[in-house]
Amino acid sequence: MTEDKSKRTEELQNIVISTFMEIIKYRDDIENAHVGRTQELLAYLIDAAWNISSLRWQMVDWDISLMLQSSLLHDIGKIAISEGLLRKRGRLSNDEYETVKSHVTYGEMVVDRIMSKTGCDSSFLSHARTLISTHHEKWDGTGYPNGLKGEEIPLQGRMMAIVDVYDALVSERPYKKVFGHDDAVNAIINNSGSHFDPDLVEVFLMVSDDFMMSEDGGRMSRISDNEFVEFRMLIGGKDVHSVARSRLNM
Ligand SMILES: [Fe+2]
Repeated sequence: MTEDKSKRTEELQNIVISTFMEIIKYRDDIENAHVGRTQELLAYLIDAAWNISSLRWQMVDWDISLMLQSSLLHDIGKIAISEGLLRKRGRLSNDEYETVKSHVTYGEMVVDRIMSKTGCDSSFLSHARTLISTHHEKWDGTGYPNGLKGEEIPLQGRMMAIVDVYDALVSERPYKKVFGHDDAVNAIINNSGSHFDPDLVEVFLMVSDDFMMSEDGGRMSRISDNEFVEFRMLIGGKDVHSVARSRLNM
């Protein structure tokens, strides 16, 4: 890719992210906060997974910085689902649940349309497509939309499934009670091997304390917001683990 084309692709990615993030922000405060937090949690999980050789070899070709940016789009298809349904209290009917599940298909359509209209199939859009398509698949094959099983599910989707569920559990939603950190961690453990990749659950447990929320809903992160921006940039670099980990151990 020429330098000009690469710059245009980067600009396009930034426009896509910021436009969709604006749409989400105006549409739904809850969802806006969720996508930001899941991105942070994903960074912790990737950082820990980098230390495990069987996982690291699956990530060596990733541009991790772009992967983290693209994670902001994992639920973009929810813009096609009515707010009333997304916030409905109580149990969903089968039809309503099917409608909520269709956010995956709508998200795929958004990214496919961008790819076909721009002729751009960048690493950013490719990661976004994978995350959108597979973050609701389950390790035992009972997830959606394709019922993928085990390592048929791309690593990005298996990682996103854990951080997505953890954050949903500890967050306030109109239709559910809030889980404490320990209960949410236990829920992840109890679903290891059924919903979640058991190896990734082990990795999650290494960093789960970094995921903890404070009582006022803020993240009890050991790094500040500014440091996290640096962390996201560093994690895309060559010495990702050593630099990021030394930052976290400050
Ligand atoms: Fe989702």
